[in-house]
Formats: sequence, C-alpha cells, structure tokens
Amino acid sequence: MRDDLFNNDSDIADFRFDDTVVAVFDDMVRRSVPGYEAMIQMVGLLVRTYGQDNTNFYDLGTSTGAITLALALNNKSKNNKFIAVDNSQEMVKQCKENLISKIDNLAVICSDINDINIENASIVVLNLTLQFIEVEKRSALINRIYQGLNQGGILIVSEKIHFDNQQKQNSLTKLHMDFKRANGYSELEISKKRQSLENIMITESKDVHLERLKASGFKDSNCYFQCLNFVSFLSVK
Ligand SMILES: C[S@@+](CC[C@H](N)C(=O)[O-])C[C@H]1O[C@@H](n2cnc3c(N)ncnc32)[C@H](O)[C@@H]1O
Repeated sequence: MRDDLFNNDSDIADFRFDDTVVAVFDDMVRRSVPGYEAMIQMVGLLVRTYGQDNTNFYDLGTSTGAITLALALNNKSKNNKFIAVDNSQEMVKQCKENLISKIDNLAVICSDINDINIENASIVVLNLTLQFIEVEKRSALINRIYQGLNQGGILIVSEKIHFDNQQKQNSLTKLHMDFKRANGYSELEISKKRQSLENIMITESKDVHLERLKASGFKDSNCYFQCLNFVSFLSVK
C-alpha cells in the first residue's frame, strides 16, 4: 500500500511502528531510504561467506522480515535457525504472515532486543534498528551481540548517519530530501515525518559507530556501503 501517512493536517505525534505504519512500511522504506534494496542484497552476499553450520542467524528489528528472507534465500550453510525479533506486535504479526510459509526453522519473537539472549550466532543484523535504541543502551547491546557471536561470525549494522562537518551534513541532507521528492513525497510529508522522528530516531556519526564497535571487541569493522547519509558496517569477530 502507498505511504501517505503524513499527507494530512492532523497534529504531529512521535513516530510509532503501529498498524498504520505496518500497512505502508515496505513502500515507505523503499521511497525514504536511498540504497535500501542494495543493503538487503549485500546481506544476502555476506551470509553466503560468513554463515556457519549449526548456528543461529538473528535479524534484530525485523519489521516485515525483509532481512530474514534475504538470509534464508541466500544461505549456503546447514542446520541454521532464523530468529527475527521486533518489539512491535503489529510488525511481528506481519513478519510471521510474510515468512512462515517460506522459511523452515524460523522463530519470530515479539521482544525488546535489549532483553533477548544472543547465543551461538554466526550472523547478527541490525538493519536500520540501532538508531531507534536509546543512545545510552547501544554499547551494552553491541557488547552482548559480540559475546553471543562465534569466532568468525559477523555483525551487520545499517544506519542513517550524520556528519560533524556542517557543510557536508547540509549537502547530504538536501540530497536525501531530493531523493524523497523524486519518490513522490510532498514538502508537507517530508517535514511532518522529520518532526515525528525527531525524538525517537537519534543518528550518530560514522566515527562514533566505528569506535563503539571497536570498544565492544570487534577488531575488524568496515563501512562497506554508503548511499547519501545511509551506511552499512561489517564487523567480524
Ligand atoms: C526501520 S525499522 C527496521 C527495518 C528492517 N530491519 C528492514 O530492514 O526492513 C526499525 C524496526 O525496529 C523495531 N524496534 C525499534 N526499537 C526496538 C527495540 N527496542 N526492540 C525491538 N525492536 C525494535 C521497530 O518496531 C521497527 O520495526
């Protein structure tokens, strides 16, 4: 369904991943996140290289399940469990509907990702999710993921980032707005969504992400993908 959630005169409330967002999510994310399809395709490539037999694959903040599906469709290793987690009941319901008939050995869990156990993992993905976690809880989450990964396992983190250099920040923000305009969003929709996300989506710089990954124990982290102000990091344990 086409996303026109912000195309109205009603008051702006903090963004929530509720049933109105679930209904339009797939359209919204593709028209709002430059490079979204490529991010997913890259996760598919990485699972072929880094997936290990007899291990768990985690998709944290799964929404409608696109990452879990890419993991399953591209997986070359044996005896894996796919664990998709989201704290929105409506997202979990939709994710189950999308994936249950397509993936064996699937668990879709409704939980705060700060509360789940990560164990025997070879792949963990946080695709556009860390930015919604309270900043002061982010290091503890990445530490737990590091502890739950097997040697040679990977964490993939995709995020919207900001730049400390104001000129660069302004120019990439403008390009991102142009991207949204080109995908049919009006000035009203762009402005209302920005205000709605302001308090709940907190971006950080590339350096802050890389420093946190290093501090958690990852010796090898790289920003392997960037499209405007959206990036993906690969960290190998
Ligand atoms: C932008 S969406 C993620 C998109 C998805 N990973 C994809 O690639 O299509 C962010 C998701 O994270 C979930 N989320 C936010 N905070 C969470 C938390 N603390 N625990 C679990 N899920 C959370 C939201 O409900 C939402 O579905």
